[in-house]
Amino acid sequence: MRYGGDYYPEQWPEEVWADDVARMREAGVTMVTVGVFAWARLQPEPGAFDAEWLDRVLDLLHDAGIEVDLATATASPPPWLSAAHPGVLARDADGAAYWPGSRQHYAPTSPVYREASRDLVRRLAERYAHHPAVRLWHVNNEYACHLHYDYSESAAVAFRGWLRSRYADIDELNDAWGTWFWSQRFTSFDEISPPRRAPYSRNPGGLLDFKRFTSDALLELFLGEKEIIRAAGATQPVTTNFMGAFPVVDYRRWASHLDVISDDSYPDPADPESFRGAAFTRDLMRSLKPDTPWLLMEQATSAVSWRGANAPKAPGQMAALSMQAVGRGADGIFFFQWRQSRRGSERFHSAMLPIAGTSTRVWREVVQLGADLSALPELPPAAPAPVALVFDWEAWWAIAGPDHPVVLDYAAVAQRWHAALHRMQVPVDIVHPAQDLSAYRIVIASLPYLLSPDAVAALDAFVRGGGTLLVAGFGDVADEHDGFHAEGFTAQLAPLLGARVVEHGGLVPPPPAFELKEPDDVAERLAAAAARPGRREVTVAFSDGRSLTGQYLEEELEVRDAEVLATYADGPLAGKPALTSRGSGAGRALYLATVPDDAGMSSIVAELLDAAGVRAPLDVADQRIEVSQRGDVLTIINHSADQVEVRVTGTDAVTGEVVDDVRLGAFEWRMVRGVRPA
Ligand code: GLA
Repeated sequence: MRYGGDYYPEQWPEEVWADDVARMREAGVTMVTVGVFAWARLQPEPGAFDAEWLDRVLDLLHDAGIEVDLATATASPPPWLSAAHPGVLARDADGAAYWPGSRQHYAPTSPVYREASRDLVRRLAERYAHHPAVRLWHVNNEYACHLHYDYSESAAVAFRGWLRSRYADIDELNDAWGTWFWSQRFTSFDEISPPRRAPYSRNPGGLLDFKRFTSDALLELFLGEKEIIRAAGATQPVTTNFMGAFPVVDYRRWASHLDVISDDSYPDPADPESFRGAAFTRDLMRSLKPDTPWLLMEQATSAVSWRGANAPKAPGQMAALSMQAVGRGADGIFFFQWRQSRRGSERFHSAMLPIAGTSTRVWREVVQLGADLSALPELPPAAPAPVALVFDWEAWWAIAGPDHPVVLDYAAVAQRWHAALHRMQVPVDIVHPAQDLSAYRIVIASLPYLLSPDAVAALDAFVRGGGTLLVAGFGDVADEHDGFHAEGFTAQLAPLLGARVVEHGGLVPPPPAFELKEPDDVAERLAAAAARPGRREVTVAFSDGRSLTGQYLEEELEVRDAEVLATYADGPLAGKPALTSRGSGAGRALYLATVPDDAGMSSIVAELLDAAGVRAPLDVADQRIEVSQRGDVLTIINHSADQVEVRVTGTDAVTGEVVDDVRLGAFEWRMVRGVRPA
């Protein structure tokens, strides 16, 4: 179990470093990330390279037994680079430059940026490939965090190149994008630009390809740096820090290129439910590389500085959220950052060592967490979950496009399905629809708008093999170019479902339930749509008198060969099917033609679990308690400020003492092994 944070010695006079290291030892720090924003310190001017200070830092850490996650420092080019080469700057959809003065202002496809950053990485890798302190390489930082999309000239050139390799010729692209519509037909790839500002909505196929291209262009940057690190003879694992369910980068496509997944996570302490969203991202990270423990690379010890209002974490909350990550598969807990900055944009951001010093609660909790983590037993990998939730960036990208029946936030809806399972303590993996699903008992495919033929085959095999599949709204709508299949909606899934959608029926969406990570335009469209007049809900009724509330969509189904489990009870489709089920092989496939509210999701999930005989590892009614499972070890966390009691018998996994029911104070946790299943 590794413990530490981002360490920025370049922000401090050298006299402070010895104190840093002494304090790190006091806090039980075992690894720090060094160099993330040190480009200007490493290359104070063009052509120069000064790493002697870094030699001293690494030696000091190594002598103290502290390992280093060495960053490649490429996330924020110094002002001299763009002053000499303005073409290095990224541009927005209006063509305006993102000027230096913050960070991430570079165009990812800029040849100048690529050459300069690779030169820096080469020097670092050659110098430190065999340094005994370096145990991990940290490439760049939070790719696309601020700069989601770049519309610069270099992006245009690179986009055209990407399109040339995707399409055999320009007419294949024209057909894929449907460019006869609105006279958009291209005669050559050279006429294509990134989707810069246009009078009205843009071609959906072009938008989707631009999102694919952007994720791939960033991956190319990552791979370029990784290749240099390897070429220098470095054998340590290589990572880059992800940001949970982040819209711009298809982390699943990236995952196989990372030796270890690492994630940055900042649930809002002011939101008592934010731990549930954090659980979703932990499960996503674990599922990206199920056989390798992941690292919680950055979180805050207390408040962040970038929300409109920045609440501190409550006493114990930092440990609760850290242990949540451990319980859900993490083998390392890190923070942004080690020592709170005195100057710069993030000076109000909490740190392991606060500016207020070591007499603070934050420092005491940091020291305590270090001690607690070091006392943990070796933890087995997280148990494979019985339930899988489909989450796919391609569907997310396409759904985020304009001109749909309703503005939908794909990730927020997926997160709500996850929350329904989380409230019941049921373990969930987060999967791609085309992967082998045979290990699962239940698969929930929320809004699987875009499904490849491979995904359809995997879902079909899953059902035939005995699984229960719930396709929950807006399923199998579009092809890979965000156009329709010749046979219409649900064309590929119709044989499995025994039903198809003929119209989607948009309802006025609810206001966003979570802090959205969507690019601004989607967040704005969602807010505007939520303010519209019109019907917001539809009632879905079961024959036994139960009902649920649907939102976003009331799709009209044509049922050919399926059982109708529930019908619409109001609205224009009253009496028509809303939930169908069809047996196939040893399993069954259900289609739900709307998106339930939270209570509706809970009741559907409860029914699916019951029918499939899936139970939580521990029977806990209080939804503020979280239970996660790694092998035979359960991590039980109280995410509330109240004292709670949990009925459980087993052995304390840390102390070895017998456990016979546990009482947990505010944000307390306990690890128990040998628990009899509920
Ligand atoms: C991310 C970044 C850090 C810092 C923090 C602030 O984790 O990687 O550099 O900006 O956010 O919360």
